[in-house]
Amino acid sequence: MPVNLRGRHFITLKDFTPEEIRYMLDLSRDLKNKKRAGIKGNLLEGKNVVLLFEKNSTRTRCAFEVAAFDEGANVTFLTNSQMGKKESIEDTAKVLGRFYDGIEFRGFKQETVEELAKHSGVSVWNGLTDLYHPTQILADFLTVTEHVNKPLNKVKFVYAGDARNNMGNSLMIGAAKMGMDFVALAPKSLWPSEELVAEMKETAKETGATITLTENVDDVKGADVIYTDVWVSMGEEDQFEERIKLLTPYQVNMDMMRKTENDDAIFLHCLPAFHDEMTVVGKEISEKFGLKEMEVTDEVFRSKHSKVFDEAENRMHTIKAVMVSTIGNL
Ligand code: CP
Ligand code: NVA
Repeated sequence: MPVNLRGRHFITLKDFTPEEIRYMLDLSRDLKNKKRAGIKGNLLEGKNVVLLFEKNSTRTRCAFEVAAFDEGANVTFLTNSQMGKKESIEDTAKVLGRFYDGIEFRGFKQETVEELAKHSGVSVWNGLTDLYHPTQILADFLTVTEHVNKPLNKVKFVYAGDARNNMGNSLMIGAAKMGMDFVALAPKSLWPSEELVAEMKETAKETGATITLTENVDDVKGADVIYTDVWVSMGEEDQFEERIKLLTPYQVNMDMMRKTENDDAIFLHCLPAFHDEMTVVGKEISEKFGLKEMEVTDEVFRSKHSKVFDEAENRMHTIKAVMVSTIGNL
């Protein structure tokens, strides 16, 4: 059966089959080639989309906007709506659904994006919640297909750091779906929930994936991909001290890269990354805790292993594929 995602929401990768994920990755590659060839698109012509943001963003906002412009859609960026303050999520969803063909939401609660999907009557896309960040995973996996010379189901993918945050959860889901060997390298207290792990182990039985949770850094051996994310996610800024204590042994540095015993291993990070002191928060951490870098060293970040800017670019091509496949004139 051909894949058809028209009218679907994009809330978590749990809702998609491996074939559907592969379809979105293939479409992303096609749209990337089309843009590189200088071909202006019209696949979103006549569409209006709204981007609702409760949290900060560089990549996700810009990816949605540029992707929409490239294919002819109009965009509203909304950070100061009445939603949740003077108007319920349900009522907001019903209003936005009358104006727009698609709604992107970035914010705190997964329930908010689910509520928008339930009541808006149009496609809703998750641009990050505390629980999941599914558009990021498409960009990550597209980058893996571009830089690792193996099919996804042969890739050993290690995520080091806060394995119970939105990235840890979403990468585990994506890896389980695509049949990868997924390793969450983290202290036990930061492992993903037992419920999600059990669910993904069930998925893994169907796809041939493996899910390993470990505290042992030596388990990076044979990795094709080393991935990390910030130690403290948006909304958890009171946790720096504890996280630094817990996660310092899991910093991605050249020792860890060497432990892969794979000179071609790539380094990925969803960004933004604390790899230097060139930011306000980076400076504060440096003054308070004496750390010049956190989840990844500047050396790895700038090394030949690092594909983080290809990955960042791929946010745009993959988000375009999400919009085109769900609301596009295909
Ligand atoms: N990776 C990512 O989602 O980046 P932004 O927070 O800049 O959108
Ligand atoms: N885990 C991070 C991801 C940022 C893209 C956060 O939620 O802040």
